[in-house]
Amino acid sequence: MTTRKRVAVLISGRGSNMKSLIEAARSEDYPAEIVLVLSNNPDAEGLSFARQEGIAVAAVNHRDYKGDREGFERAVQVVLEEHDVELVALAGFMRLLTPYLVGEWKDRMINIHPALLPSFKGLGTHERALEEGVKLHGATVHYVVPEMDDGPIICQGAVPVLDTDTPDTLAARVLSVEHQIYPRALALVASGKARIKAHKVSTPADDADLGECSLIVPR
Ligand code: GRF
Repeated sequence: MTTRKRVAVLISGRGSNMKSLIEAARSEDYPAEIVLVLSNNPDAEGLSFARQEGIAVAAVNHRDYKGDREGFERAVQVVLEEHDVELVALAGFMRLLTPYLVGEWKDRMINIHPALLPSFKGLGTHERALEEGVKLHGATVHYVVPEMDDGPIICQGAVPVLDTDTPDTLAARVLSVEHQIYPRALALVASGKARIKAHKVSTPADDADLGECSLIVPR
């Protein structure tokens, strides 16, 4: 692998998805390298793991930009440019983005959402899935567009919903599938195999990788 895409992972807290991307990118065959972990929360737990891995970390505190979302994003953009970032992976980044940052990263920014989109956009996805009585729940990696939790879907992972589930047990089962699909989705995007055509993501007909990117975890 000669040219690995330079990726920034944006987090707000725990950073377990960030960790799964960092671990995948340890392999030299992986088409992306994590060059920066940036958080809007200077105390985000995930920052210490990234630091220990020798990855550059940065905090841009959104509280310093009260009422000025775009000002916050412009400060983030400066840091991304300083690190020659080519792709951005949002991983539990709890800020609503304005058209400014989304536009800067059009088709180069991806996100993971803990639900099978287009169902259950927004917060509280596991509680709502249980309330609705759905039998399958899961996670989605998608390109970021100006509308929240929308955009072309790259990979999805589905898990069964059990009668005995609580929001916490369901969240844990979904999180485990998140850690499987996010590294696969980022690899597809970084290698250029994921292509957006008419708002859908496709790969060349002879490439089976995208199929493997989505999975259903058996009961
Ligand atoms: C994950 O469930 C992710 O799907 C959502 O926020 C959570 C972040 O968890 N966007 P972590 O920080 O990656 O552990």
